[in-house]
Amino acid sequence: MNAGAKNEREENAVIAVACDHGGYALKLEVIKYLEKNGFSYQDFGTDSTESADYPIFGEKAARAVASGACGRGLLFCGTGVGISLAANRVHGIRAVVCSEPYSAEMARRHNNANILCLGGRVVGPGLAEKIVDVFLHTDFEGGRHERRVAMLDDIKG
Ligand code: RB5
Repeated sequence: MNAGAKNEREENAVIAVACDHGGYALKLEVIKYLEKNGFSYQDFGTDSTESADYPIFGEKAARAVASGACGRGLLFCGTGVGISLAANRVHGIRAVVCSEPYSAEMARRHNNANILCLGGRVVGPGLAEKIVDVFLHTDFEGGRHERRVAMLDDIKG
């Protein structure tokens, strides 16, 4: 399998999206971006601004990514933090919270992050779109980073 084939498959993969009430409005904005740019997605809820528990939705989306049903995930809560903690409990998930594009780019290039978490009370829709765009279009560099990323999966609780 060459890198080009892998990237093509990843770009065609379904994106898992999920949020709690604090991330609901931003999730809707990012879904507009996904639709406009031809990405397929599966929405794991929540479906309103009514108070909801981020661990439930973070876990559902993270399991879809870990199983391979979805290629990457985009998660939203008030800060992005709570839902990232939930996602990172699922083996094989590398969820990162980013508030600017540089970290999102490096999280893909060096950490092979498979889930991006955004804070609906932290970033506005315009900035969120740029962060998501770079996250979805940046490839993992592999090489020396491969071994380090593999080491993450070796850490047992
Ligand atoms: C909910 O008020 C808030 O705590 C949640 O959205 C998230 O920011 C937690 O990390």
